[in-house]
Amino acid sequence: MAEHDENPLVVALQTLRTEALARLGHLTDLTALDTWRIDYLGRRGALTQVMRGIGQLPTAQRPQVGQVSNEVKTALEEAFEARVAALKQAQLASTLAQQPIDVTLPGVPVSLGQVHPSTQTLREIAAIFSDMGFQIFDSREVESDLYNFALLNMPPYHPARDMWDTFYINERVVLRTHTSPGQIRAMQAYHPEPIRVILPGMCYRYEAITARSEIMFHQVEGLAVGTNITMADLKGVLVTFARRMFGEDRQVRFRCSHFPFTEPSVEVDMDCLVCGGKGCAICKYSGWLEILGAGMVHPQVLRNGGYDPEVFSGLAFGMGPERITMLKYGIDDIRYFFSNDLRFLEQFG
Ligand code: PHE
Repeated sequence: MAEHDENPLVVALQTLRTEALARLGHLTDLTALDTWRIDYLGRRGALTQVMRGIGQLPTAQRPQVGQVSNEVKTALEEAFEARVAALKQAQLASTLAQQPIDVTLPGVPVSLGQVHPSTQTLREIAAIFSDMGFQIFDSREVESDLYNFALLNMPPYHPARDMWDTFYINERVVLRTHTSPGQIRAMQAYHPEPIRVILPGMCYRYEAITARSEIMFHQVEGLAVGTNITMADLKGVLVTFARRMFGEDRQVRFRCSHFPFTEPSVEVDMDCLVCGGKGCAICKYSGWLEILGAGMVHPQVLRNGGYDPEVFSGLAFGMGPERITMLKYGIDDIRYFFSNDLRFLEQFG
């Protein structure tokens, strides 16, 4: 072995290793480490230079020098990797020390938002009527004057049109002021089959916005057409609805009223939720709260929908989900529904 050690290249390699490892031990940042790698192991690095020279050695010396240089190379590479790993670990430790992470802390909760109170009520209404066999029929929000008024028994210039303040798009096109034009659309789609549908959707009125009236609001229309439908069915359906929506012991009253498209027409009240009928500010000391308008479909309206009023009869009703929600939760201003105030909306989570 002694004679091998005397080979000047082997001696040079050993020295190179000692020196390189000593230098490596002092390096404390990744840039310096990279420079070190280039100096020793790079394509023009010290070790590479030595290894390139092996080919010029006398054949007898080559194996030994080759073996030593491979050992040195492996040793340097391993030391380099170990040093990089140690340095990265140290950096991580110091970052953590400066900004400690408490892995036991709960995560930041993601806020989910919630279903709008009108939509919640719409869904409740739909569920109640669905149990009574009503299907949902979708009708349009932009209507012709013909459907919104004329086919509902209000020809042009009929004074009853004044009941609905209307947004006109042009002389013939309006934003529907109620969901009742959907009655005609449903009849035209179904006839001569019997019908049992509700029509939920947005309506628009050209009104001053106050605590009691909005320019946009929902309605849910109901329509049943068949060969044996009577006022008793209308009462049964609406009493059932009121009791499921507002409580089993609700009293319901039918008051004579007038709509051009129903005959007879009624408005439906229930006993006041707040005072139970004794009279209070909410029911204006009457003991009753109005919940919807209804009636038996007018023969002319049946005819306009394609049904023979001698054979068919129908019941219809229309209610406002915002009003229903207000009664249910004691909300005193309809403007909350469309002003996007989270303090209001978040109460319906
Ligand atoms: N469309 C009427 C309104 O908006 C309500 C209604 C619907 C009345 C169906 C009778 C029958 O006031």
